[in-house]
Amino acid sequence: MDVLIRKNYDEISRTAANIIAEQISMNSKCILGLATGSTPIGTYKELIRQHKEENLDFSKVTSFNLDEYLGISIDLDKPYNEDQSYARYMWEELFKHINIKKGNYYVPDGLTEDPLKHCEWYEAQIKKAGGIDIQLLGIGGDGHVGFNEPGTSFNSKTHITALTKQTLDDNYELFYKKSGIPREKMPHFAITIGIGTILDSRHALLIASGKRKADIVAEAIEGPLTSQITSTSLQLHPKVTIVLDEDAASSLKRIKHYKHVENLKKKFSL
Ligand code: PGA
Repeated sequence: MDVLIRKNYDEISRTAANIIAEQISMNSKCILGLATGSTPIGTYKELIRQHKEENLDFSKVTSFNLDEYLGISIDLDKPYNEDQSYARYMWEELFKHINIKKGNYYVPDGLTEDPLKHCEWYEAQIKKAGGIDIQLLGIGGDGHVGFNEPGTSFNSKTHITALTKQTLDDNYELFYKKSGIPREKMPHFAITIGIGTILDSRHALLIASGKRKADIVAEAIEGPLTSQITSTSLQLHPKVTIVLDEDAASSLKRIKHYKHVENLKKKFSL
């Protein structure tokens, strides 16, 4: 597990975007796993900048999003503003600004008539595409990655999940409040790829910013493995990069060690 500590949000966004851009440059047909939430917005802005100013080419890239609320969705071609779906978020924050091809980006369908069947279908599409090359992740206040809430099996694949009160509170504050949708009307269930799906990715890239994430980030990286904090499962992943700003890193015990490892790897181009 590589832990990279950066000064601030802009720097983690640049570092994460560079790691993704490098993957795309190495393999123009790569499969990206994408995330939503407030944290990845800067990473997407930087990827858009690289697309516009440095010709970063998404034309052969395929992407799969981590999750979607159940009960809302949109046709990605006709986004409308009131909608709080993650499909809309992806359209607004990334897809409409880059040259990724229609049909090459996937977000779970929150309006599916048969959610269980849709979960199986989504998982099968990831397999069919050859698996995820690089999976971008945020971390929830309850330690979730994707919407894998406390108690989710480390072997889980794409599934339906009930959101915790903490997730509902966090996401209401960040996204729903401004839309005027009452708290009780926001979706309480979601479709999410599983921890097993995330562990199957070839590279997991987790980003976190701010003091409010410091304690849960320390649990995820240095705490014991537990399905009660599903991000601890990343300790089982063979290739993980965690990019933190100084605030999000502030509860870690081994900051010096992580910096030492990063410097050594740079020195020896590892
Ligand atoms: P945030 O959400 O980026 O809005 O903090 C992260 C998450 O819940 O995965």
